[in-house]
Amino acid sequence: MTAVIPGTTTPAAEQAGSDLPALVALSLAALAAGRAARGGPVPAGEPAQVAADVDAALGEGVLPEVGSGERAALAGLVAAVAAGAADPADPMCAAHLHCPPLPVAVAADLAASALNQSLDSWDQAPAATVLEERVVAALAGLAGLRGGSGVLTTGGTGSTYTALLLARDAAAGPVRLYASAAAHFSVERAAHLLGLPRVVAVPLGEDQAMDAAALAALLRAAPATERPVVVATAGTTDLGSIDPLPAIGQLVSAAGGWLHVDAAYGGGVLFSDRRRSLLAGIERADSVSLDLHKFGWQPAAAGVLLTRDAAAFAPLARRAAYLNPADDEAADYPSLLGRSLRTTRRADVLKVAVTLRALGRSGLGALVDTCCDLAGYAAARVCSEPLLELAADPVLSSVVFRHRGGDAVNAGLRRRLLREGRAVVGRTELAGQVFLKLTLLNPAATPADVDALLDLVLAAARAEEGAS
Ligand SMILES: Cc1ncc(COP(=O)(O)O)c(C=O)c1O
Repeated sequence: MTAVIPGTTTPAAEQAGSDLPALVALSLAALAAGRAARGGPVPAGEPAQVAADVDAALGEGVLPEVGSGERAALAGLVAAVAAGAADPADPMCAAHLHCPPLPVAVAADLAASALNQSLDSWDQAPAATVLEERVVAALAGLAGLRGGSGVLTTGGTGSTYTALLLARDAAAGPVRLYASAAAHFSVERAAHLLGLPRVVAVPLGEDQAMDAAALAALLRAAPATERPVVVATAGTTDLGSIDPLPAIGQLVSAAGGWLHVDAAYGGGVLFSDRRRSLLAGIERADSVSLDLHKFGWQPAAAGVLLTRDAAAFAPLARRAAYLNPADDEAADYPSLLGRSLRTTRRADVLKVAVTLRALGRSGLGALVDTCCDLAGYAAARVCSEPLLELAADPVLSSVVFRHRGGDAVNAGLRRRLLREGRAVVGRTELAGQVFLKLTLLNPAATPADVDALLDLVLAAARAEEGAS
C-alpha cells in the first residue's frame, strides 16, 4: 500500500482516502473560527454583504471543473457558513423556535450520517428500525397514547400534513377541518394540499386560545354528513397559548370526529413535572405532533407524529417488491415503509434516542422549566419598563411585547439589531400591530442575558426614534 502524505493528494485520491476523524476535527475547528469571526449572534451587515461573503468563500463558484479538495472545501465553507450564521446558542439570538442543539445530539447525528441507515426497509436499517419503534412507543406513552404508534418526520409541518391525511382517509365521507385563528399556517396549507375545504377558523377566547364554546356552536351547526377534524394547538407559535384540550376532546369525541393536537412547541412540557398538567387532555387525541427540534434540543429535523391507533397509518401502506416483500414480513422482517410519506428516510431517531437516554425525562423537563422560568423573568422586566408593553403573560417560553413608539419603530429596531449584528429578535403581528417576540429556547441563557437583550431593544428604539 502506498503511503498518503498529507497535503500531496489530488482531490480524487483524497476521496478514496477520506479520514473522517481528521475531517471532523477540521470541521469543528472551522466552526470555531467562523463563530469567532462573526463575534455575535448574527453577521453584521445588510443581506448583500452576507451574499458577498458567501460568494467570496466560493471563489470560482460552487461547481468548479476541478475540485479544490476535501480539506479546503470543508474548512472554507464551514467557516463561511458559521461566520454568516444566526446562532441559536448565542443568548442574543432569541427570535424563533430555533434551539441550540445539545452537543450529544449533534454527535449522535454525525453517527447517523456516517451510518446512513434508511428506514424505508429493514435491510437498510435493522437496528434503527427497532430503535424508532421503541422511541415512538415511549413518546406515545408520555403523551398518554399508550399502545399508540408513530413515526419520525421532518417537523411539525410534515406531522400535521400526515395526520390530516390519515384523518381524511379514516372518514367514511366528507370531512371539515377546524382550527383556531392562531393555529400554525401549515394547517391551512395541508388542507389545500389534501384537497380539503378551507379550514374553519374557530375564534379565540380572551386567553388567546381556542374558544371551546365557539367550537361547540360550529360543530352543532355543521351538516351531520360531515366528519369534523379538529386541530387543537398546544403551544401557539407566538404566544404559546394552549387550546383547552379536555373540552375540545369531549366535543370532538361526541361529534365522532378526529382530534389532532399540534404540540410541536408545547409538547416539550410533557417532560416537566411542574408543567405537564398544561397538556392535560392530550391523551384524548387521535394524533399528536411533537417537535424535538424545538423543546428537545435536537438538530433539525426531529419531528414526531404519534397516533392513538397503529392502524391509523393504513392509508400510507404500500407494497414495494424491492423494499417490503410480503414473505419477508411473514418471516418477521418488519418494515416502517407504511408510516411515512418519505421513502428514503434517515435515522433521525438515533440522536433522539441518545438524548432521551442521556438526559432522561427529568433532565429534559428541567431544561424546559429553565426556559419557561426565564420567560417569566423577561415578562416581568418588560412590565417594569414604561416604554415597553407586554402582549400577554407567557404560557411557555415566548414573550411577546412592543415598544410604545409604534409599528415603524418596532419594525425598524428589529432590522437595526440584525444589521448591527447585535441581536435576533422575533417579529409578529397581533390585531394588526407590529409586536416583538423573544422565544427563549436556550437553557444556558440567564436573567442577565435577558436584561442585556431588552437593553439592546430599548437602545435600538432610541436610535430609530432619533433617526426618524
Ligand atoms: C405550533 C406549530 N406547529 C407547527 C410548526 C411547524 O413546525 P416545523 O417548522 O417543524 O415544520 C410550528 C413552527 O414553528 C409551530 O410553531
